[in-house]
Amino acid sequence: MSVQDGHASYQVSRLGKPVLAPSSLGLEFVGESEPHFSSMTGVERKSSDSTWEQPWGEERVIRDHHTELDVTLQGTTPASHTVTVDFRLFDDGVGFRYSYAAIPSGRQVEVSVDHTSFHTVGDYEAWWYQALGQERDEYLYTHTDARRITLAETPLTLKGTNGLYLSFHEAALIDFPSMLLAGNGAGILTAWLMPWPDGVLARKTGPFTTPWRTVLITDSAGALVDSRIELNLNEPNKLGSVSWFKPGKFVGVWWEMHLNRSTWESGPRHGANTVNVERYMDFAHQYGFDGVLAEGWNQGWEGDWTAHGDRFSFTRSYPDFDMDAVTAYGRRLGIQLIGHNETAGAVPNYESQLEDAMRLYETHGVTVVKTGYVRHSGDIIDENGGREWFAGQYMVRHNLHVAEVAAAHHIAIDAHEPVKDTGLRRTWPNMISREGARGQEYNAWGIPTNPPEHTVIIPFTRMLGGPMDFTPGIFDVAHGQTDVTRRVQSTIATQLAEYVVLYSPIEMAADLPENYEARLDAFQFILDVPTDWETSRTLQGDIGQCIVVARLQRGGKDWYLGALTNEKPRQLTQPLTFLAPGKHYEAQIYRDGPWADYRTNPQSLTIEKRQLTSKDTLVIDMAPGGGEAVRFRRLD
Ligand code: NOJ
Ligand code: CA
Repeated sequence: MSVQDGHASYQVSRLGKPVLAPSSLGLEFVGESEPHFSSMTGVERKSSDSTWEQPWGEERVIRDHHTELDVTLQGTTPASHTVTVDFRLFDDGVGFRYSYAAIPSGRQVEVSVDHTSFHTVGDYEAWWYQALGQERDEYLYTHTDARRITLAETPLTLKGTNGLYLSFHEAALIDFPSMLLAGNGAGILTAWLMPWPDGVLARKTGPFTTPWRTVLITDSAGALVDSRIELNLNEPNKLGSVSWFKPGKFVGVWWEMHLNRSTWESGPRHGANTVNVERYMDFAHQYGFDGVLAEGWNQGWEGDWTAHGDRFSFTRSYPDFDMDAVTAYGRRLGIQLIGHNETAGAVPNYESQLEDAMRLYETHGVTVVKTGYVRHSGDIIDENGGREWFAGQYMVRHNLHVAEVAAAHHIAIDAHEPVKDTGLRRTWPNMISREGARGQEYNAWGIPTNPPEHTVIIPFTRMLGGPMDFTPGIFDVAHGQTDVTRRVQSTIATQLAEYVVLYSPIEMAADLPENYEARLDAFQFILDVPTDWETSRTLQGDIGQCIVVARLQRGGKDWYLGALTNEKPRQLTQPLTFLAPGKHYEAQIYRDGPWADYRTNPQSLTIEKRQLTSKDTLVIDMAPGGGEAVRFRRLD
């Protein structure tokens, strides 16, 4: 860090080579000019190496090994009189945050500008989409020279000609607006905070600390995925034991509505009626699932519900859905109802019913509620009639408020159309999963549907923030469509591999029961695959090309492997050195079959069993739009 001509800046180098050139720091406040910094004092350095345990997750024991550097700046304006910048340096990146400790207790301040920037050195390509589009974060990624970035969502991932991979994001986004990054066309990315309706970026009461701004810096794309910086920069668990939440798998009244075979709203084709939900419960019970999601059970879905979220009731069900009967039925079978609260972004309406909604679910034994915020990105109407961004400070507060009320009722939240994930699950382990990207739903009605490269981009971008409720597992990939860009663009093997690659502690088997019963051979992998892991390793892959992930079952001995490719067929050689040495495994391999191709022959699947050990190498042969899923069942 340095202070020159009144400006504070930092730079980052790795192994002696510059990664970020001097880049600016600091916030500016309403009623004050841009602060000038006169000096740097109190430079403190300390290092720390510890481990901590996740109650559930992609890895049980997480190592937090970092060096901390705290620098205090003296500024010319009252709010910036004393600003401490805390840096944490890890082997795979850096995080920093500001502490405005000198703002008197209780004094309200308004942030008008965030001067934080990231000045990249060298040539980078980027995977991004233009931020603030009406569908929030549900966009396909474009792949361009990083200098073409206008305004991008984070995690923003870059690949350099120097062999480095960078990903910019934030951690512990609490009571602050979400950060986007604005490009200047010449390698400088500057923080752009989603404002309140009146243009103020953030409203804070002194003294306060900002979220962490993070930069992952690695030599491979896989190392980005395996970085734990995001979690390490969040505070420890505040909820204590969350043993009432169990990772698991569910089915639900869901895909049938997306295919327009039934409706959310009441009427002759209403999907979430008691009989139908109980049919799904029978299916869940027969195959060992944990839960059944029922969307459209509550009143308010008539007409264009996205425009009338204030009509939703979160306690009154449609007459043909009997919550008492359904949950009693489920209890007898050992199947939980998964709750659903679609708000359509009508936040005041939801908040006024939140306590009642969570209590209702709690009394019915529900421990997971899926929420939804289908509303254009800048159109959330607040209590004052103001139009809020989907991830401004207002929604960041709301998001946490929902999680806290839910936690008090022993309920975990799976948020769709969410504020992006910044690792809050460490502190609030009932924030289990989110959407926040184009998920499987787009493969029902998207124009176009997700192309094959999508699922080999999101592990290196969106999912660096945290788990995603993608909802894999569509077997009837064509679902009556002939045009490949209007249906699932993958093979069956890919659908299986997604359960391993796209981590979430709750995974949906998204297809209709009859489509699974028609392919029980392939379905077996979905039944076997766990959703809670001892450890996870990204073995190879590159952004938009391919990925191979292996995970060890938590509390078990079996390893699972998932591999995905984009539209190109690909043969990968994968040493099995992650398996326990000297042990024998039965590899149950689900791979693309003869002439498999996502365009012409997506159903071709070969299932075979082989005995393998850690000394062996697996040759992974993937078709266009294909993949491979393997269960390594330990035999000794
Ligand atoms: C969008 C969600 O992503 C989807 O899963 C849900 O079915 C609909 N909203 C309706 O709430
Ligand atoms: Ca969605």
